[in-house]
Amino acid sequence: MNNDELIFAEYDKSLRPKRLVDYIGQEDIKEMLHVFITTARQREESLDHVLLYGPPGLGKTTLANIIANEMGKKCHTTSAPSLSRIGDLVTLLTELDEGDILFIDEIHRLPQIIEEVLYSAMEDYFVDIIIGKDVTANPMKINLMPFTLIGATTRCGDISSPLRDRFGIVHQLNYYKTSELQRIVKRTSRIYQFEIDEESSLEIAKRSRGTPRIANRLFKRVRDFAQFDNPECKSIPLSITKSSLTKLDIDEAGLDQTDYKYINAIISRFNGGPAGLNAIAASISEDATTLEDVTEPYLLQEGFIVRTPRGRVVTDKAYRHLGKEK
Ligand SMILES: Nc1ncnc2c1ncn2[C@@H]1O[C@H](COP(=O)(O)OP(=O)(O)OP(=O)(O)O)[C@@H](O)[C@H]1O
Ligand SMILES: [Mg+2]
Repeated sequence: MNNDELIFAEYDKSLRPKRLVDYIGQEDIKEMLHVFITTARQREESLDHVLLYGPPGLGKTTLANIIANEMGKKCHTTSAPSLSRIGDLVTLLTELDEGDILFIDEIHRLPQIIEEVLYSAMEDYFVDIIIGKDVTANPMKINLMPFTLIGATTRCGDISSPLRDRFGIVHQLNYYKTSELQRIVKRTSRIYQFEIDEESSLEIAKRSRGTPRIANRLFKRVRDFAQFDNPECKSIPLSITKSSLTKLDIDEAGLDQTDYKYINAIISRFNGGPAGLNAIAASISEDATTLEDVTEPYLLQEGFIVRTPRGRVVTDKAYRHLGKEK
């Protein structure tokens, strides 16, 4: 990394709030976590296992790190696709000190054999493994320190029920309100020492699809346009905000080019629907999983599409929004 990249990496790190009080929104989750963390600390016990699920960019990884911080413990991070062998998991588990956090991202992608090893680790803090092969094979029990597993996923439905049942704290993260996203944009602006006025921060918040990661990204791009326009600029005016968002192809409802391609495909090629996800994905050369995890949840929540047993259907609201006749 060169110096500039290092500075940016540091900024990105500093954008992640470190304490529960600095984590904006998701009030229900925060309130409950505050109770569970406080009482676990009073009893000097490890926190119960936590499962966080919800669309990308809503703050699952951020929250996992905050929990470790609030517990005063270390957060060991991995992601399910990188755990292909039992040995990888056992190494991670045996490295944990008492009360440490093991954060497994994309936990719905754990291979079955790894998942089964996790069951006893989560429930009774031990793993049974086989050392050697064939006639020399010997079962071995390894005791572990009490620890907290935090799992994150965008697809709660893909987690098996035995695994899900072993989490004592299960929470869904929801899309953020505009006022919360505005606070996130203002916080980012303070960290970057680049001012933004009330109207501009509101405009970015409205167009961020309820998602902090998008709010931060839009802030950064709008700041680039403002600085490009006037290198001395230290504050972002509304006119620049609006024109930048238009250049970035983000409309007033936060819909981007992929959303437009997706809705237009259902209207023009499937007569408004119902249309199957794979057929839509193939018709616009997009990945079906990305459409399902990233594009569709927001369109569903905002009522631009509905899901029926026979496929996706575009709503009247979407026709109106795109200025199309039914
Ligand atoms: N509640 C919040 N308050 C302030 N900033 C937040 C909040 N939640 C998320 N962010 C910011 O949004 C960014 C994205 O959050 P994060 O990486 O935790 O999302 P995620 O849910 O783990 O996404 P993914 O599913 O893609 O892994 C972070 O860099 C963080 O700065
Ligand atoms: Mg994450």
